[in-house]
Amino acid sequence: MAIKRPEYILAIDQGTTGTRAVIFNKNARRVAATSIAMDPINPHSGWVEQAPIDIWRTTQTAITETMIEAGIRADAIKAIGIASQRETTIIWDKKTGQPIYNAIVWSSTQSQAIADQILQAGHTEMIREKTGLPLSAYFSATKIRWILDHVPGAQAEAERGNLLFGTVDSWLIWNLTDHQAHLTDISNAARTMLFNIHTQAWDDELLSLFNIPKSMLPTVTRSNGQIATTNPMQFFGSEIPITAVIGDQNAGLIGQLGFNPGTVKSTYGSGAFLLLNTGHHLIDSQHDLASTIAYQIDDQPVYALEGSVFTAGSAIQWLNEQLNLIDEVTDSWEAAQQATSDDSLYVVPAFLGLGAPYWDPQARGAVFGITRTTNRNDFIKATLQSIAYQTADILRTMKADTGHQIDVLKADGSVSRNPYLMQFQSDITGLTIERSVYEDTTPLGAAFLAGLAVGYWESLDDLATLTSQGRTFQPTMSVEKRLQLKKGWQRAIDATRFFAN
Ligand code: G3P
Repeated sequence: MAIKRPEYILAIDQGTTGTRAVIFNKNARRVAATSIAMDPINPHSGWVEQAPIDIWRTTQTAITETMIEAGIRADAIKAIGIASQRETTIIWDKKTGQPIYNAIVWSSTQSQAIADQILQAGHTEMIREKTGLPLSAYFSATKIRWILDHVPGAQAEAERGNLLFGTVDSWLIWNLTDHQAHLTDISNAARTMLFNIHTQAWDDELLSLFNIPKSMLPTVTRSNGQIATTNPMQFFGSEIPITAVIGDQNAGLIGQLGFNPGTVKSTYGSGAFLLLNTGHHLIDSQHDLASTIAYQIDDQPVYALEGSVFTAGSAIQWLNEQLNLIDEVTDSWEAAQQATSDDSLYVVPAFLGLGAPYWDPQARGAVFGITRTTNRNDFIKATLQSIAYQTADILRTMKADTGHQIDVLKADGSVSRNPYLMQFQSDITGLTIERSVYEDTTPLGAAFLAGLAVGYWESLDDLATLTSQGRTFQPTMSVEKRLQLKKGWQRAIDATRFFAN
C-alpha cells in the first residue's frame, strides 16, 4: 500500500520591507519560514520605489530557502496563497515581461501633483462614490498616470495594448505562471481607485478620467478558488495551484479569524492598518475612512471600513536609523518604560503626510512640549505613543461611521510585540487589546484561504480549532487622564496641520 506523503500549504507574503515564504502544515503550524529584507529606492524626498525584479527574485529565493529548510519538494505543496502589499504599482511590457519603471510603492508621494489636479477639477466625490476611497496619491491610479507620463512613449505603447499594469500580486502571478496569467483579486483591485466597488468591475469613467487604457488592467478574481497554476519552469518543475490571492492587510484580518461583522484588527508594521469587517454591508464613510472590499470567498464580497496610519513602525526605525536613539527596535520598550515625563511630550510622525482620518499630504512631522528636562527616553516614549494615538483616531472615526460599539481591538504585526505600546493602546482607547499569538497573521491568512479552497481545511469553524489565544491587555488609565492626553494629541495634530498648510 502506498504511504501518503504529508502535504503543505505555501504562503507568500510580499511586503514593503521584505518578502517572506512560510510553509504551514495541517495543524496550521509553521514548518519553515524565510524572510528576505528589501531596501527601498528613494530617488527624491518622499519618493519610494522598489525594483520589480527584486520583488520577484526575493520571492523565488524565499520559496527555495523555505522548501530547503522544510526538507520538502515542490510537489508536496498542495496549494499556494499570495498576500502582498497593496496599491504598489508596476507596469511591464506584455511581450518581454520587462518592467518599464520601478514599482512605485504605496507610500510614495511622487504622484501628488496628479492627485491635486484631479481634486481641483472637482472629481473627489465621484471617485469616493464609486471606489469608496478618499482621493489620494496612496492608491494606484495616480501612480499609473505618473509612470505613463514620465516614461517616454509609454502612453502610446499602453494604447497599442503592449503594456500591462498590476499590483504586486499580479506581478507575482504573472511570473509564477511564466507570463500566462494576468490577474488580481478583488481586495487588491479595490485599492487601485479604478475599481467600482458597487458594480465590482473596472470603471470606464475613472479609466477615462485618468486616461488609462483598459487593456492594461488585470482580470479580477475572487480571493480564493482555483485562480492560477504555477508554470513548471518557474516552480521547480511542478504545476501547483495558486488558490488564494489577497492584500496583505486583508490577509491579516483572515489570519485573525475576523470573519464576523464588527471585528476590528490592526496590523502594526511599517504603517498600521485597521480594518473593521462590515460583512456584506457597504458602509459609506462620512469621515474619510476608506470603504473597501476585505475579501471575497463566496458569491458576494465582504466589505470593510479601513483606516491607514502611514507612519507606525517606520517611526521606530527613524529613532534607530536617523536619530541613533536606539540600537535595536526592541530597545524602545525598555526606554519607554523608564521615561519619567508626564506624557505632555507629543511626537507627530507625519513623515509622509497624515493618513486617515486627516488625509493631509502636506503635513510633516512635528514635536510639541519639549522642556529642558526632556530626554531620550521621553522622546522614545512619545514616538511609541504617537502610533497608539493615530490608531485611536481611526477607531473613533469607525465608531462614528457605524454607530457600532467597539470593545475589542485585535492586534498583530511586528510592532505589536511591543508590550508598552499595546498597554498604552489599551489605555488611550479604553479597549481590550487581544494580541495574536502569532507575530504576523498575514501569511497565516493567505494559507487559510488557500487551504480552504482545496479542502485542506474544511470550513471556517475548522480554522478556529487551529489557533490559540494570545496575550490580552486591559485599560488601566483613568478616564480623566485619557481625555486630557487625547486633548493634547488633538492640539498637536491641529498645530502640525496649521503649520503645514
Ligand atoms: O496598503 C499598504 C499595505 O498593504 C502595506 O503593507 O505590510 O507591506 O507595510 P506592508
